[in-house]
Amino acid sequence: MDGASSATPGPAAAGVAGAGVPVRVIVLGKQGAGKGTQAARLSERYGVPHISTGDAFRAAVRSGSALGVKAKTYMDAGELVPDDLVIGIVREYLSGEGTGGFVLDGFPRNVAQAQALSDMLAPEHLDAVVNLDVSTEEVLHRLAGRRVCQSCGATYNVVDNPPQVAGRCDVCGGVVAQRADDTEEAIRLRLEIYESATAPLIDWYAKQGLVATVDAAGPPDEVAERVLAAVEGARR
Ligand code: AP5
Repeated sequence: MDGASSATPGPAAAGVAGAGVPVRVIVLGKQGAGKGTQAARLSERYGVPHISTGDAFRAAVRSGSALGVKAKTYMDAGELVPDDLVIGIVREYLSGEGTGGFVLDGFPRNVAQAQALSDMLAPEHLDAVVNLDVSTEEVLHRLAGRRVCQSCGATYNVVDNPPQVAGRCDVCGGVVAQRADDTEEAIRLRLEIYESATAPLIDWYAKQGLVATVDAAGPPDEVAERVLAAVEGARR
């Protein structure tokens, strides 16, 4: 399915624990915590696909497919897309290009999705659930300034990390714009849904000994080092 992998898998990582063994990681965190940013780096580092359900839905919306038409209303309002649609996408991925490992970004978002994922993976298991921990004040700043390339998905921040030419992507020259769900109202609803539906997953996975909480404040490179250390620690 086009669009769900927002990073091109790089060569399998050399010098990392369990090199050659598929890595299966979930990146969890509130909206704007940096899930997409860090998942793309892990994907490159381990040479496995970055599976972002948000990117998959945005690609479906752009293509005008039936899935995109259904998902758009929910996404623009900041609501979760119904479980059956999301689970269907992830199942297709995991039985295809995700067979040899993956970094999941934006899935699961509630216990029903997490249960469905366990059933899909059995008898295999996850290596780690990386929980990106950051204040609400910081994510509000990040999301208000976020701009995304409409062609390749590269992410910018108008304050901290603007494109070299305003409104144009450094990577592909595409148009850089605000996401439809980065309005104040949609952000507030998304954060409420995170607290009620997604945050309980931290306990759910902690009971399975899978959670590695990482301080997600600070520059992306520093966060990436902490994330990698957490994944490596979990794989030893
Ligand atoms: P999705 O695309 O997954 O959006 P989200 O969860 O709201 O997360 P974000 O993309 O806003 O944040 P992020 O944590 O990835 O942060 P990012 O790296 O971009 O989902 C969108 C919608 O799709 C949902 O609302 C829902 O409708 C639907 N959907 C998706 N999955 C679903 C599911 N499983 N079930 C049901 N519905 C689903 O970073 C944010 C900004 O901060 C960027 O500007 C970035 O450059 C910047 N930044 C990142 N790291 C740092 C740092 N360390 N310091 C400073 N700035 C940073």
